[in-house]
Amino acid sequence: MSVLSAETKELQKEIRQLLVEKDAVLLAHNYQRDEIQEIADLRGDSLLLSQKAAETEKSVILFCGVHFMAESAAILSPHKTVLLPRLEAGCPMADMITPEKLRERKAELGAGVPIVTYVNSSAQVKAESDICCTSANAVAVINSLPEERVLMTPDMNLAKYVQRHTKKQIDYWKGFCPTHHLLKPERLAELKGQYPDAKVVAHPECTPDIIDMADHVCSTSGMYAYAKKENSKQFIIATEDGILYGLRLENPDKEFIIASEDMTCPNMKVTTLEDVYEALQEMKHVITVPEDIRVKAKKALDRMLAVPRD
Ligand code: 13P
Ligand code: SF4
Repeated sequence: MSVLSAETKELQKEIRQLLVEKDAVLLAHNYQRDEIQEIADLRGDSLLLSQKAAETEKSVILFCGVHFMAESAAILSPHKTVLLPRLEAGCPMADMITPEKLRERKAELGAGVPIVTYVNSSAQVKAESDICCTSANAVAVINSLPEERVLMTPDMNLAKYVQRHTKKQIDYWKGFCPTHHLLKPERLAELKGQYPDAKVVAHPECTPDIIDMADHVCSTSGMYAYAKKENSKQFIIATEDGILYGLRLENPDKEFIIASEDMTCPNMKVTTLEDVYEALQEMKHVITVPEDIRVKAKKALDRMLAVPRD
C-alpha cells in the first residue's frame, strides 16, 4: 500500500471537512486511486454504487469514477446535485455504441428481443434499452426475463460469459473494455506457472480464453468476497489494478498479483485528490440528463435494481 505524504493526508482531511460542509457523500469505484478510495464514504462496484446513489440522504453526490456512473446517479437521484471531478473521465466501451446504431439494430431484430444494456453505457443508450445489468447481476437479469432471446450491449465479453450460464440465446454488440480485452492468455499462463498455488480471479469483461483459465469470475466487489472466504494465500487478479487497494487492505495476510502491469484504465485514474478538492470547492462538474431521456433510462435502471443480486 502506498505511503502517503503529509501534504496528501492534509488534503484528504480538508476534503472530508468540505464533504460535511457541502452535505456531500463521496462514492468511489473500486478502480479509483488509493488515496481517493481511502477517504470515500463508500467504495464499491457499479451495482453497489448505483444502489447507494439511489438511497443516499445527502444533497450532493460526489462521484469518483467515470462519466456513465455519475450519469446513473443523476438518473436515479434527479433532485440531488451529482458532481464528477473530471469531465473527460469517460469509458471507451460505453463509446462503442450510440443510440442511433442501437435503434437500427432494434429495427432489424423486431419486437420480442429485449435489449439488455450494461451500465457502462450512456444515458441515451440506456433509454433505448429494456433493462440494464452490471457485471454483478448480468446472469440474474437475463434469467429474470420471460423472453428466450435477448440482445446484450455493449460488452461482447460479458455477453459471452453470461451465455455460459443461461439457456437463452444471447445476441451481442461487439464492444469491449480495452483494459480487460487486451490481457493475453499467454501472460496469464506464465503467471500461473510462477504462482502454481494461486487462485485466478477474472472480471467478466475479460475474453473467453481468460475466463476458461479462471477459478472464479465476478464483479469487482465479488472479488472482495471471494478473497475473504477462499483459503488460498495467493490470488492472481485479472481486472483493473485499482482493485488491489481494497484487496490488500482487507486481507493483509494474503498476496495479490495483478495479471498484467497494463491493466490500468486511464479514465479511472485521471481523477486526482486535487480534482476532488476542486470539485467540492467549486461544485463542479454537475452532471445532468435531459428529463425525457432520464425517465426512460431510469425505467431500465429501476427494472435492473428490482432483480435480486445472485
Ligand atoms: P464493476 O465494478 O461493476 O465490476 O465494473 C467494472 C468496470 O469496468 C467499471 O468500469
Ligand atoms: Fe470502461 Fe474498462 Fe475503464 Fe471500466 S475499466 S471504465 S469498462 S474502459
